[in-house]
Amino acid sequence: MEQEKKVALITGGGSGIGFGIAEKFIEKGMQTLLVARDEEKLKAACAQLGASCHYKTCDLADLKTIPALIQNILSEYGRIDVLVNNAGINMKKDFTEVTDEDFQKIITVNLCSVFSISREVVKDMIRLKSGSIINISSMAAQYGLPRVIAYSASKSAIEGMTRAMASELSPHGIRINCIAPGFIETAMTAKALNDDPPRKAKALGRTPMGKMGKPADIGAAAAFFASDESAYITGTVLCVDGGNAIGF
Ligand code: NAI
Repeated sequence: MEQEKKVALITGGGSGIGFGIAEKFIEKGMQTLLVARDEEKLKAACAQLGASCHYKTCDLADLKTIPALIQNILSEYGRIDVLVNNAGINMKKDFTEVTDEDFQKIITVNLCSVFSISREVVKDMIRLKSGSIINISSMAAQYGLPRVIAYSASKSAIEGMTRAMASELSPHGIRINCIAPGFIETAMTAKALNDDPPRKAKALGRTPMGKMGKPADIGAAAAFFASDESAYITGTVLCVDGGNAIGF
């Protein structure tokens, strides 16, 4: 029974949006594998999500460990049908204060690891002649946000990479789509907004629905891209944002 289920790998699934996606995938009957750094958090997430949820620990900033991680997962689970590149970090600093090291750190986790893990997974998806990759972008790629220069660069690159990958990998039956979440209630937004009330007021002020989203809202969109319901959709960016990207 477990062997017949689709296998989904979610990076950074121990909390926040990744956890919301895992919850939805498990509800849809997928075997779900979380990949992140904090073993205790991952264990707790799996305990909450049940027997179809598993985990592997990995620091995605350590790019050279990624090929072995994917090989290990493939030998254990046989296939990866769905990859969600969700793990990400943010850093709020004035433009002139950002060091090259700061910039590189964000780019490594938010962008380089997405490339490395996708490359390794795609090698096997080509063999399967199918697969769905879901990248997580941000409002920082839809409009100009101050004080998050490296984050904005990384997320804008993710959207470009989504289109390039969709174009190159469609002949192999692999679809790549992107979800751009608006302001979602997680630890990351708590850190970015709770100590900055004017920024929070601005974020909500330009969100026509007037409220923040929940990880489950992103989970629902990811489940759509993971399923055959989206079989003719690739290379897109879906804003799940209460209208934030188009708000006045
Ligand atoms: P979060 O901080 O709750 O989760 C981030 C996850 O990434 C954690 O599980 C963490 O362990 C993992 N991670 C970070 N660095 C890692 C590394 N080096 N190796 C392995 N795992 C690592 O944040 P949240 O809000 O759930 O963010 C998830 C994604 O959604 C991120 O890509 C973020 O940029 C994006 N996003 C979030 C928004 C929000 O409003 N919360 C808005 C737009 C995008």
